[in-house]
Amino acid sequence: MDEACLSLPDARRRGLRAVWARRSLRTQLLSAFLLIEILAAIIGLCVIVTRARDAAGVEMSSSMRLAQLLASETVSLMAPDTTPERLLQILQQQLRYTRHAAVQVFDATGHLIGGKAPIKRHPGERSAPAWFSALVSPRTERIEHPVAVLGRNIGSVSIIGEPKDEIEEIWGHTKALAGLAFFANAIAAAVLYVMFGRILEPLTRVSAGLLTLEQRRYKIGIEQPDVRELAEIVNRFNGLAKSLHAAHRSNADLNRRLIEVQDEERRAIALELHDEFGPCLFGLKTNARSLAGACAKIGALSPGASEDSSKTLAEVEECSSVIVEIADRMQLTNRHLLNSLRPMALGHAPLEDVLADLAASFGRLYPAVSISLDAAGLEATYGDRIDLTIYRCIQESLTNAIRHAGASKIAVILHEETGRANESHAHGSRRLALEVRDSGKGMASDIRPGFGLSGMKGRVQALGGEWRLDASQAKGARILVTFPLDAPDIEHPSSEGEAAE
Ligand SMILES: Nc1ncnc2c1ncn2[C@@H]1O[C@H](COP(=O)(O)OP(=O)(O)OP(=O)(O)O)[C@@H](O)[C@H]1O
Ligand SMILES: [Mg+2]
Repeated sequence: MDEACLSLPDARRRGLRAVWARRSLRTQLLSAFLLIEILAAIIGLCVIVTRARDAAGVEMSSSMRLAQLLASETVSLMAPDTTPERLLQILQQQLRYTRHAAVQVFDATGHLIGGKAPIKRHPGERSAPAWFSALVSPRTERIEHPVAVLGRNIGSVSIIGEPKDEIEEIWGHTKALAGLAFFANAIAAAVLYVMFGRILEPLTRVSAGLLTLEQRRYKIGIEQPDVRELAEIVNRFNGLAKSLHAAHRSNADLNRRLIEVQDEERRAIALELHDEFGPCLFGLKTNARSLAGACAKIGALSPGASEDSSKTLAEVEECSSVIVEIADRMQLTNRHLLNSLRPMALGHAPLEDVLADLAASFGRLYPAVSISLDAAGLEATYGDRIDLTIYRCIQESLTNAIRHAGASKIAVILHEETGRANESHAHGSRRLALEVRDSGKGMASDIRPGFGLSGMKGRVQALGGEWRLDASQAKGARILVTFPLDAPDIEHPSSEGEAAE
């Protein structure tokens, strides 16, 4: 319980900080400015109040002293034969116009002759608010001034401090000053709002640029702002984007080179196997068959041969047929090896037929899986690299769907499409689109790509294409590949086409 109580202010402080942090920099700067202005206004008001109270006090005291002096002077200047009543009357008239003081004249018996009464305001009359009067009002003073003629006391004058007029005056000045300050500050805040917006705008552009970099689109340049510090930031950002672009390009080039070298090596091995092993195996098989034939011939030509020689001939004949059998198996393995190293039909038969053959061979191996291929309307070939990449993508996708997803249905769709060039298809409008969709168990979000998926992606990207895995499917997975066909730099593709992954 105690801990909860202690942590409450902390939580509130953290909450306030979070609310503050969520505001834009422009709002934060403007709020700081307004806060300073409010603080300055409060300090200004305190100074005004303190000085006004002192000034009102001084003004009131001096007015009272003046009234007292006026009373003394009036009495001393009166003719000696003036009656006390007349003198008090004149005194009362003389003192009627004193400022900041209420004056009352009394006769010797204490009866009020007259004077200037304290100011009374009518209801609804505009005056300083009570709080301001309370702050500014000085301590009220009172002077009792006796009136004596020839040593005889004939009455008295009561002078009471009356700062209301002064306070009203100060209130009027304060209001005018506050209005002026408010107007000036409102204009300053509006100007700052516009200025902050203009000054900070490049930062918004840098933020948008960073988002673009995050999406792996590196061909960006932000316009230089006028502010020196921000210009430096923008300069560095542009430099960073340039180096990232260069690094990405060289990575893609390296990747492409790697795949090319690998394909070249595979092609060379396949050629060796085909040109060397193929004829050798063929020769082995033919010779073994000839040997078996010769043995059969010798047996037929020598009916009286000994049992030993007939047995030897039979053994040789059997060995020859075993050799033929082994050579058959080796030929089959060689063909499989050749096909996996480099599909021999690629480049010789139309792409559609080669792919149909691939799907059929998977169908033969896995008869429980229904594999459909829709690849109509294709050109015979799209060049060795695209053909081979498509072949490999389909091969790997089929293997994955059967091996990992336990799919019973797999659909392969390959077709050309034309569309408007946009950001993700920056190379042009003619594209080759491949989709491999399976009815398997789908993919977990945390799968670890092995060589298969990353190899596919690398091959596609090396050709400037896009590779996408749609694992959001509730049932089954989808591999989507597109290649730009109108790209002028298909042999040296740019690395800009991978934004979609
Ligand atoms: N069609 C699919 N359906 C469900 N899961 C899949 C599918 N394709 C791939 N996966 C998952 O993605 C993982 C990575 O696949 P990837 O092809 O990259 O590697 P791999 O098949 O495990 O090994 P290899 O390097 O031999 O291809 C697999 O282990 C599997 O869990
Ligand atoms: Mg795989």
